[in-house]
Amino acid sequence: SRLWLIVPAAGVGKRVGGTCPKQYLEVAGRPVLAHTLARLHQSFPEARLCLCLAPDDDWFDPALVPFTDWQRVAGGAERVHSVVNALAAVAAQGAPDDLVLVHDVARPCVSADDLSRLYNAALASPDGALLASPVADTIKRDDGQGAVANTEDRRGLWQAQTPQAFRFALLQEALARALAPDGIGVGRITDEASAVEALGRAPRLVAGRRDNIKITHPEDLRLAELILAGDAV
Ligand code: C5P
Repeated sequence: SRLWLIVPAAGVGKRVGGTCPKQYLEVAGRPVLAHTLARLHQSFPEARLCLCLAPDDDWFDPALVPFTDWQRVAGGAERVHSVVNALAAVAAQGAPDDLVLVHDVARPCVSADDLSRLYNAALASPDGALLASPVADTIKRDDGQGAVANTEDRRGLWQAQTPQAFRFALLQEALARALAPDGIGVGRITDEASAVEALGRAPRLVAGRRDNIKITHPEDLRLAELILAGDAV
Protein backbone atom coordinates (compact mmCIF):
# COMPACT_ATOMS: atom_id res chain seq x y z
CA SER A 1 0.00 0.00 0.00
CA ARG A 2 1.18 3.54 -0.61
CA LEU A 3 1.34 6.80 1.27
CA TRP A 4 -0.71 9.84 0.28
CA LEU A 5 -0.05 13.32 1.62
CA ILE A 6 -2.90 15.82 1.69
CA VAL A 7 -1.87 19.42 2.35
CA PRO A 8 -4.81 21.81 2.74
CA ALA A 9 -3.46 25.16 1.54
CA ALA A 10 -6.63 26.82 0.31
CA GLY A 11 -7.18 29.11 3.29
CA VAL A 12 -7.14 32.86 3.00
CA GLY A 13 -5.53 33.41 6.41
CA LYS A 14 -7.69 36.29 7.58
CA ARG A 15 -6.21 36.31 11.08
CA VAL A 16 -2.66 37.01 9.92
CA GLY A 17 -3.89 40.15 8.17
CA GLY A 18 -2.73 41.73 4.94
CA THR A 19 -3.62 40.62 1.44
CA CYS A 20 -1.10 37.79 1.09
CA PRO A 21 -2.45 34.41 2.25
CA LYS A 22 -0.32 33.20 5.16
CA GLN A 23 1.09 30.20 3.27
CA TYR A 24 2.83 32.65 0.93
CA LEU A 25 4.31 34.92 3.60
CA GLU A 26 8.07 34.64 3.73
CA VAL A 27 9.93 32.99 6.57
CA ALA A 28 13.73 32.85 6.32
CA GLY A 29 13.54 33.93 2.67
CA ARG A 30 11.03 31.34 1.48
CA PRO A 31 7.23 31.13 1.56
CA VAL A 32 5.70 29.13 4.41
CA LEU A 33 4.35 26.64 1.85
CA ALA A 34 7.86 25.89 0.57
CA HIS A 35 9.13 25.10 4.07
CA THR A 36 6.18 22.83 4.82
CA LEU A 37 6.50 20.88 1.56
CA ALA A 38 10.30 20.61 1.96
CA ARG A 39 9.93 19.00 5.39
CA LEU A 40 7.29 16.55 4.17
CA HIS A 41 9.39 15.69 1.12
CA GLN A 42 12.51 15.09 3.17
CA SER A 43 10.67 12.51 5.29
CA PHE A 44 8.43 11.00 2.58
CA PRO A 45 10.11 11.52 -0.81
CA GLU A 46 8.17 8.69 -2.46
CA ALA A 47 4.70 9.76 -1.30
CA ARG A 48 2.09 11.20 -3.63
CA LEU A 49 1.03 14.73 -2.71
CA CYS A 50 -2.45 16.21 -3.14
CA LEU A 51 -2.09 19.95 -2.65
CA CYS A 52 -5.38 21.79 -2.03
CA LEU A 53 -5.27 25.31 -3.47
CA ALA A 54 -7.94 27.94 -3.88
CA PRO A 55 -9.12 27.96 -7.53
CA ASP A 56 -8.31 31.69 -7.75
CA ASP A 57 -4.88 31.42 -6.06
CA ASP A 58 -2.56 33.84 -7.93
CA TRP A 59 0.41 33.27 -5.62
CA PHE A 60 1.12 29.59 -6.23
CA ASP A 61 4.20 28.62 -8.20
CA PRO A 62 4.74 24.91 -9.08
CA ALA A 63 8.49 25.50 -8.57
CA LEU A 64 7.71 25.53 -4.82
CA VAL A 65 6.78 21.81 -4.93
CA PRO A 66 9.73 19.41 -4.41
CA PHE A 67 7.68 16.24 -5.06
CA THR A 68 7.87 14.44 -8.40
CA ASP A 69 4.52 12.77 -7.77
CA TRP A 70 1.92 15.40 -6.98
CA GLN A 71 -1.32 16.96 -8.11
CA ARG A 72 -3.25 20.14 -7.50
CA VAL A 73 -6.75 19.80 -6.01
CA ALA A 74 -9.36 22.54 -5.77
CA GLY A 75 -9.90 23.85 -2.25
CA GLY A 76 -13.41 23.99 -0.80
CA ALA A 77 -15.36 26.48 1.29
CA GLU A 78 -13.93 25.19 4.59
CA ARG A 79 -10.82 23.18 5.43
CA VAL A 80 -12.82 19.93 5.61
CA HIS A 81 -14.18 20.48 2.10
CA SER A 82 -10.65 20.91 0.79
CA VAL A 83 -9.68 17.60 2.39
CA VAL A 84 -12.78 15.89 0.96
CA ASN A 85 -11.83 17.11 -2.52
CA ALA A 86 -8.36 15.64 -2.08
CA LEU A 87 -9.84 12.33 -0.90
CA ALA A 88 -11.85 12.17 -4.13
CA ALA A 89 -8.53 12.30 -6.00
CA VAL A 90 -7.15 9.54 -3.76
CA ALA A 91 -10.31 7.45 -4.36
CA ALA A 92 -9.69 7.51 -8.11
CA GLN A 93 -6.18 6.10 -7.80
CA GLY A 94 -5.67 4.63 -4.33
CA ALA A 95 -6.62 1.56 -2.31
CA PRO A 96 -8.81 1.35 0.84
CA ASP A 97 -5.86 0.51 3.10
CA ASP A 98 -3.53 3.20 1.74
CA LEU A 99 -2.35 5.52 4.50
CA VAL A 100 -3.43 9.16 4.11
CA LEU A 101 -1.47 11.77 6.05
CA VAL A 102 -3.04 15.24 6.31
CA HIS A 103 -0.81 18.18 7.25
CA ASP A 104 -1.77 21.86 7.37
CA VAL A 105 0.38 24.07 5.16
CA ALA A 106 0.48 26.50 8.10
CA ARG A 107 2.72 24.16 10.17
CA PRO A 108 6.13 24.56 8.51
CA CYS A 109 8.16 23.65 11.62
CA VAL A 110 7.17 19.99 11.94
CA SER A 111 10.27 17.90 12.70
CA ALA A 112 11.50 14.78 10.90
CA ASP A 113 11.41 12.87 14.18
CA ASP A 114 7.74 13.73 14.83
CA LEU A 115 6.82 12.89 11.23
CA SER A 116 8.44 9.50 11.57
CA ARG A 117 6.83 8.71 14.94
CA LEU A 118 3.40 9.80 13.69
CA TYR A 119 3.75 7.71 10.54
CA ASN A 120 4.75 4.59 12.48
CA ALA A 121 1.94 5.05 15.00
CA ALA A 122 -0.62 5.43 12.19
CA LEU A 123 0.67 2.31 10.43
CA ALA A 124 0.22 0.35 13.65
CA SER A 125 -3.20 1.78 14.61
CA PRO A 126 -6.45 0.75 12.89
CA ASP A 127 -7.97 4.02 14.16
CA GLY A 128 -5.16 6.26 12.91
CA ALA A 129 -2.99 8.71 14.85
CA LEU A 130 -2.30 12.40 15.34
CA LEU A 131 0.45 14.59 16.73
CA ALA A 132 -0.65 16.41 19.87
CA SER A 133 0.81 18.03 22.97
CA PRO A 134 -0.51 18.09 26.53
CA VAL A 135 -2.19 21.39 27.43
CA ALA A 136 0.29 23.53 29.38
CA ASP A 137 -1.85 26.60 30.04
CA THR A 138 -4.76 26.88 32.44
CA ILE A 139 -7.93 26.86 30.34
CA LYS A 140 -10.82 29.25 31.12
CA ARG A 141 -14.32 29.20 29.68
CA ASP A 142 -15.90 32.65 29.31
CA ASP A 143 -19.43 33.60 30.30
CA GLY A 144 -20.12 35.36 27.00
CA GLN A 145 -19.61 38.77 28.64
CA GLY A 146 -15.85 38.90 28.97
CA ALA A 147 -15.60 37.34 32.40
CA VAL A 148 -14.67 33.85 33.52
CA ALA A 149 -17.49 31.34 33.85
CA ASN A 150 -15.24 28.52 35.02
CA THR A 151 -11.82 26.90 34.78
CA GLU A 152 -11.61 23.65 32.85
CA ASP A 153 -9.73 20.69 34.33
CA ARG A 154 -6.72 20.51 32.03
CA ARG A 155 -5.62 17.08 33.21
CA GLY A 156 -5.90 14.72 30.25
CA LEU A 157 -6.39 17.57 27.75
CA TRP A 158 -4.25 17.69 24.60
CA GLN A 159 -3.83 20.25 21.84
CA ALA A 160 -4.26 18.55 18.49
CA GLN A 161 -1.66 19.30 15.81
CA THR A 162 -1.09 17.95 12.35
CA PRO A 163 -0.08 15.64 10.73
CA GLN A 164 -2.94 13.27 11.35
CA ALA A 165 -2.93 9.97 9.48
CA PHE A 166 -5.59 7.33 8.79
CA ARG A 167 -6.36 4.53 6.37
CA PHE A 168 -8.06 5.99 3.31
CA ALA A 169 -11.34 4.02 3.73
CA LEU A 170 -11.72 5.07 7.38
CA LEU A 171 -11.04 8.75 6.72
CA GLN A 172 -13.37 8.88 3.75
CA GLU A 173 -16.21 7.25 5.69
CA ALA A 174 -15.59 9.48 8.73
CA LEU A 175 -15.71 12.74 6.76
CA ALA A 176 -18.76 11.66 4.75
CA ARG A 177 -20.67 10.77 7.93
CA ALA A 178 -19.57 13.90 9.75
CA LEU A 179 -20.81 16.09 6.88
CA ALA A 180 -24.10 14.18 6.45
CA PRO A 181 -27.31 15.86 7.71
CA ASP A 182 -27.18 13.85 10.96
CA GLY A 183 -23.40 14.21 11.33
CA ILE A 184 -21.42 16.40 13.76
CA GLY A 185 -21.34 19.20 11.15
CA VAL A 186 -18.71 21.47 9.62
CA GLY A 187 -18.30 23.64 12.73
CA ARG A 188 -17.05 20.70 14.80
CA ILE A 189 -14.88 19.07 12.14
CA THR A 190 -11.81 21.16 12.90
CA ASP A 191 -9.48 18.24 12.25
CA GLU A 192 -9.66 14.75 10.73
CA ALA A 193 -9.55 13.00 14.10
CA SER A 194 -12.79 14.66 15.28
CA ALA A 195 -14.66 13.03 12.39
CA VAL A 196 -13.01 9.65 13.05
CA GLU A 197 -13.84 9.89 16.78
CA ALA A 198 -17.50 10.52 15.87
CA LEU A 199 -17.51 6.98 14.39
CA GLY A 200 -16.62 5.68 17.86
CA ARG A 201 -12.98 5.12 16.94
CA ALA A 202 -9.98 6.14 19.06
CA PRO A 203 -7.04 7.64 17.15
CA ARG A 204 -3.65 7.31 18.92
CA LEU A 205 -2.19 10.45 20.49
CA VAL A 206 1.48 10.84 19.53
CA ALA A 207 3.24 13.39 21.76
CA GLY A 208 4.70 15.97 19.38
CA ARG A 209 7.10 18.84 19.87
CA ARG A 210 5.48 22.03 21.07
CA ASP A 211 7.31 24.04 18.44
CA ASN A 212 5.21 22.48 15.67
CA ILE A 213 3.31 25.76 15.70
CA LYS A 214 0.46 26.73 13.39
CA ILE A 215 1.03 30.12 11.81
CA THR A 216 -2.15 31.96 12.70
CA HIS A 217 -1.18 35.44 13.88
CA PRO A 218 1.50 37.87 12.54
CA GLU A 219 3.76 37.30 15.55
CA ASP A 220 3.93 33.60 14.67
CA LEU A 221 6.09 34.37 11.61
CA ARG A 222 9.06 35.50 13.71
CA LEU A 223 8.64 32.49 15.96
CA ALA A 224 8.64 30.17 12.95
CA GLU A 225 11.81 31.82 11.68
CA LEU A 226 13.57 31.14 14.97
CA ILE A 227 12.36 27.55 15.12
CA LEU A 228 13.37 26.81 11.54
CA ALA A 229 16.80 28.44 12.04
CA GLY A 230 17.52 26.28 15.06
CA ASP A 231 16.50 23.14 13.24
CA ALA A 232 17.96 23.33 9.73
CA VAL A 233 16.68 20.72 7.29
O1 C5P B 1 -7.13 28.97 9.02
P1 C5P B 1 -6.58 27.72 9.59
O2 C5P B 1 -5.16 27.86 10.07
O3 C5P B 1 -7.44 27.04 10.59
O4 C5P B 1 -6.49 26.71 8.36
C1 C5P B 1 -5.95 25.42 8.53
C2 C5P B 1 -5.47 24.87 7.21
O5 C5P B 1 -6.56 24.61 6.33
C3 C5P B 1 -4.55 25.82 6.46
O6 C5P B 1 -3.48 25.03 5.96
C4 C5P B 1 -5.43 26.39 5.36
O7 C5P B 1 -4.72 26.76 4.19
C5 C5P B 1 -6.35 25.22 5.08
N1 C5P B 1 -7.66 25.58 4.49
C6 C5P B 1 -8.07 24.99 3.29
N2 C5P B 1 -9.30 25.31 2.76
C7 C5P B 1 -10.11 26.19 3.36
C8 C5P B 1 -9.72 26.79 4.60
C9 C5P B 1 -8.47 26.45 5.14
O8 C5P B 1 -7.32 24.21 2.70
N3 C5P B 1 -11.29 26.49 2.80
